[in-house]
Amino acid sequence: MGVYLGIDIGTSGTKTLAIRGNGKILASATIEYPLSSPRPGWSEQDPEHWWDAAKKSVRRVLRDGKIKPTSVAGIGLSGQMHGSVFLDSRQRVIRPALLWNDQRTAAECDEIERLAGGRSKLIRMVANPALTGFTAPKILWLRNHEPRHFDRTRQVLLPKDYVRFRLTGEFATEVSDASGTLLLDVRRRRWSRSLLQKLELDPDLLPAVYESEEVSGRLSGIAASALGLPQGVPVVGGGGDQAAGAVGNGIVRRGVISATMGTSGVVFAHSDGIEIDPGGRVHTFCHAVRGQWHVMGVVLAAGGSLQWYRNQLAEAAVSAARRKKVDPYELITAEAATAPAGSEGLYFLPYLTGERTPHADPHARGAWIGLSLRHGRAHLARSVIEGATYAMRDSLEIIKGMNIPVREIRLSGGGARSEFWRQVQADVYGHKVVTINAEEGPAFGVALLAAAGTGAYKDVVEACRATIRVVSGTPVHSPTRRRYNRLYPQYGRLYRSLKDDFDRMSQLVD
Ligand code: XUL
Repeated sequence: MGVYLGIDIGTSGTKTLAIRGNGKILASATIEYPLSSPRPGWSEQDPEHWWDAAKKSVRRVLRDGKIKPTSVAGIGLSGQMHGSVFLDSRQRVIRPALLWNDQRTAAECDEIERLAGGRSKLIRMVANPALTGFTAPKILWLRNHEPRHFDRTRQVLLPKDYVRFRLTGEFATEVSDASGTLLLDVRRRRWSRSLLQKLELDPDLLPAVYESEEVSGRLSGIAASALGLPQGVPVVGGGGDQAAGAVGNGIVRRGVISATMGTSGVVFAHSDGIEIDPGGRVHTFCHAVRGQWHVMGVVLAAGGSLQWYRNQLAEAAVSAARRKKVDPYELITAEAATAPAGSEGLYFLPYLTGERTPHADPHARGAWIGLSLRHGRAHLARSVIEGATYAMRDSLEIIKGMNIPVREIRLSGGGARSEFWRQVQADVYGHKVVTINAEEGPAFGVALLAAAGTGAYKDVVEACRATIRVVSGTPVHSPTRRRYNRLYPQYGRLYRSLKDDFDRMSQLVD
């Protein structure tokens, strides 16, 4: 049985995972790298770091898993979405890549809407509105602010597709990641000639588009010796980290939804046909499943809110955890569980880095509202967990409103590891939640795509069916669900009341 490698080019590091065709994990290695923020709101990385980390992590996985290089039958690539790598005519990187969380392009988003003939026309062409994180605004930013760099640019690649270029020498992408550029006709799964024309962008800047499980190229001789693998190993399209993570969670059928609480939180739904929210509040992208789509809501600081709480306010829990050699989140969630559901009137808005879904508001900010003398640390922690979960419910409600059925909610990320947070999610979503046997996320998803694309399975749906299964379920506790149903509408009202203040406050910050 062959071995398949999944390489995930993340924001904090690159992870390579090796699996057998039956899904068994053989080895995994992560190599970290820095992120640079040369100005407030800017976020950049050197693509050379990704390539270095990819090489090192593959070599480490081969060594640790005692894997015979000739047994590697396919490679899949996943990565942080939306980033832009600009290459010149000699295929050299022109400047550091702008990343998905870079916020410098607000003016270019307006420019795109104007050139497209308005927001609804734009949504009709590419299924989504212009958001600062997406790729097209970054290309226009380069044209507006660094014209000398723009004039030299011959190719624009997404992060994982730059690594593909180094592996295979091919300029290629696949439909799921390409959807997040804002330049893909998501309905037809090919570049939008009409939007490119309106933005006066040369289509030759963009790579060939494949389906996610299609073979997009083969390992070149140079790359093969850098990685310690034989030349010619097929590299499949792969997927943007969200679509790839969804494949890794088995979200490849109608009615199966995932709620992933990492630093950001993502509610992800598979859809057989293309479903677009006319308000553009959730993203509609091609799925990494051939001929299928997905809809997703992104909460920018979900687990990130609790991470902030841990770093800034939970010193006692952090040192106790060190002493007891346990994870500080275990102690924080245990303390949170001692406060009653609803945190006795305390609400937390988790907009620590602005918000994408549903508000698309870079000026939104975090807040505790309703504090009284009665509230202690347990309430603070519980309200953070509840606030992040309400934010995820916002996405779920929009998805339900689009008539996408919700039959099963699969949890992953930090929010799935805590029994307490699983229960809060079941009660806030008003739906039983389950966990699955696979925890390796996007790297696992693209390793499965590699297995499917090189013939180990008929397709990726069959690969998921053979390797992923539900292992636990948390049913709804009805009295708590009723309580959250009464409290949730007030959570939504708080943002609406504060929205104008957030805007005004952003002008007052020096
Ligand atoms: C998805 C998104 C993030 C990045 C970084 O739209 O912005 O998931 O891909 O992980």
